[in-house]
Amino acid sequence: MGKFVWTAQLEIGIDVIDKQHRRIVEYINQLDDARSSGHPREEIGRVVSELVDYTLSHFAFEESMQEEAGYPFLKAHKKVHDLFAQRVSEYQARFLRGEDVSRELNSLLVTWLFNHIKRDDADYVESVQSNLQRQNDFVEKKKGFFSRLFK
Ligand SMILES: [Fe+2]
Ligand SMILES: [Fe+2]
Repeated sequence: MGKFVWTAQLEIGIDVIDKQHRRIVEYINQLDDARSSGHPREEIGRVVSELVDYTLSHFAFEESMQEEAGYPFLKAHKKVHDLFAQRVSEYQARFLRGEDVSRELNSLLVTWLFNHIKRDDADYVESVQSNLQRQNDFVEKKKGFFSRLFK
């Protein structure tokens, strides 16, 4: 498992979220490049931590959209995010101890993200979408706090 090819299937239809998902996919591909072309460990470690930071901000942003929209499965969705974050941080810890986990981590990211977007993220679209139509300044209001997601 290596390159993550973005497909229209992965578009959930909320522009701001689709952009963030694409960015995460770019990071995963960057990791794959760094890994497969034998870049130094520090370089791989740097890509991993940027990817993790960005993904965690994305999760927080998604959860805040869901909360605002009164999405009924927010708790379950957050739990899925938290479990994933925990798994990834275990990999990061192993990586820092010197283990060669980047390949395994790479394939976890591809598989997990693909399934999560298609199944779990797709599920909140209706609820969040109709809330966004009611208050179309939501994204603008959040830009300060989540500035890194809008670069
Ligand atoms: Fe997402
Ligand atoms: Fe999500």
